[in-house]
Amino acid sequence: MDIRVTKQTEGNIACDALVVGAAYEKAGQKAKSVVLSESARAVDQLLGGLINEMCTDGEFKGNLNELVTIHTMGKLATRRVVLVGLGAQETISPQTLRRASATAARHLQHTGAHQIALALQWQGSGMDAEQTAQAQIEGALLGLYTFKKYQHSDMNVNGHGVTMITLLPGAADEKAVYTAIGRATAMAEATNFARDLVNEPPNVLTPTELANRASAMAQQFGLECEILDRPQMQELGMGGLLAVSQGSAEPAKFIILRYRGAPNSTAKGMALVGKGITFDTGGISLKPAERMQEMKGDMAGAAAVIAAMQVIGALKPAINVTALVSSTENMPGGTAYRPGDIVRIMNGKTIEIVNTDAEGRLVLADALSYAVREGLSPIIDVATLTGGIVVALGSVMSGLFCNNQQLCDEIIAAGQAVGEKFWPMPLDDEYAEQIKSDIADIKQTGGRPASSVTAAKILEHFVDDTPWAHLDIAGNDLSDTRRPYQEKGATGVSVRTLAELVLRRGL
Ligand code: BES
Ligand code: MN
Ligand code: ZN
Repeated sequence: MDIRVTKQTEGNIACDALVVGAAYEKAGQKAKSVVLSESARAVDQLLGGLINEMCTDGEFKGNLNELVTIHTMGKLATRRVVLVGLGAQETISPQTLRRASATAARHLQHTGAHQIALALQWQGSGMDAEQTAQAQIEGALLGLYTFKKYQHSDMNVNGHGVTMITLLPGAADEKAVYTAIGRATAMAEATNFARDLVNEPPNVLTPTELANRASAMAQQFGLECEILDRPQMQELGMGGLLAVSQGSAEPAKFIILRYRGAPNSTAKGMALVGKGITFDTGGISLKPAERMQEMKGDMAGAAAVIAAMQVIGALKPAINVTALVSSTENMPGGTAYRPGDIVRIMNGKTIEIVNTDAEGRLVLADALSYAVREGLSPIIDVATLTGGIVVALGSVMSGLFCNNQQLCDEIIAAGQAVGEKFWPMPLDDEYAEQIKSDIADIKQTGGRPASSVTAAKILEHFVDDTPWAHLDIAGNDLSDTRRPYQEKGATGVSVRTLAELVLRRGL
């Protein structure tokens, strides 16, 4: 994507479409009235009051993501103007602009525009020019994402689609705007990379392919990459990952990505840990057939941490970060692990297997143990771990389990900044009762009550006293509806939150 900044005005920028915003203000008890942004007002004047007329007629109300297209017929250098609603003017935030920009960009992509210009800045929103620029570019790039490589769509065949975005940032410091665009591009491209990984079918995206793509990304962005194979896993005693993988013909991979932004620091740095089950059949405790195809998304945690490393590689914060991914399929078969088995995790603890579909905690246990052994701190893991979190939070929020209040607050704040929601969940010790085993150190599952919590309690056994957070994204790795900056399918959830958190620490 070609992204530019221009000093041209609303009237003289030549493009296929110019996007401007309008909000509404509540006029007491009476009907709400539309408020135009400065750019929208400039366009209105050039069009002889056309926009005002549309508003007073009630055709356009300023509601969030409402769209109206105006053909300029030569009155402006742009062929079209798209007026997009920003909702109540006192609620305008980066998230508003991300959504509005995505809605407009995607609409334009569908209606044949190639070169678009964005002028959605809102005076008096409290956002600075950088935030405004970042939100608009990020929203547009996320909104324009599609996954069509296995389809002969017109857009692929004819090379249609938006190819150039020009920003009209108003009177802003140009350097700051370019920095913001760099951040937006890094965030959005990495999120789209994660979406690609999750959207790929499981016959293509095997653990080997996931490792190859992580390695290619690492090479491109200057990260160290190490891929461990079975003999090394055996040597390290990664009994959880090995047990889950033993029923699959695809070899398991343990992916390590290292970024050293603070080479002189004594701190080993953060660990980002991802669950990389490239397909989860449930194993011997086989899942029902219905919607099983969605289990190709069971590597969304891995995709998130790998993609977050791409942002880090692109923006180079002064901090050390290591990503650790346990990747395998979970398949039934003659060599598969069984309920009743006891497996020994890398840190020496034993787990009594009761349901082979609870595989995520086993592969994560080894990765968490590895992080502890490396002395990494804090540790953040991301996983499509439990159906329970889907029941609890649906697709709106991810579950956040954390043994450290400061880290918890930091994650929620980073999420808020990028438009992702995390809800704190408990880790109280009473829940540990449910995972007591008669025969091993712990039992793999704690039954139906609070199943997301007991899964997190298992993970807690492998982080010792290290500050640790566990993000359960089982409810929002895939979306079955279209949202402003979210096409159906993989969401890339938590990539931008993780990256934002690391950037804030490394500034
Ligand atoms: N990958 C699933 C969790 C999942 C469910 C992800 C729905 C996305 C959507 C996980 O491996 C799993 O099967 N969890 C089981 C554990 C149970 C058997 C203890 C669950 O939560 O139902
Ligand atoms: Mn499972
Ligand atoms: Zn799973």
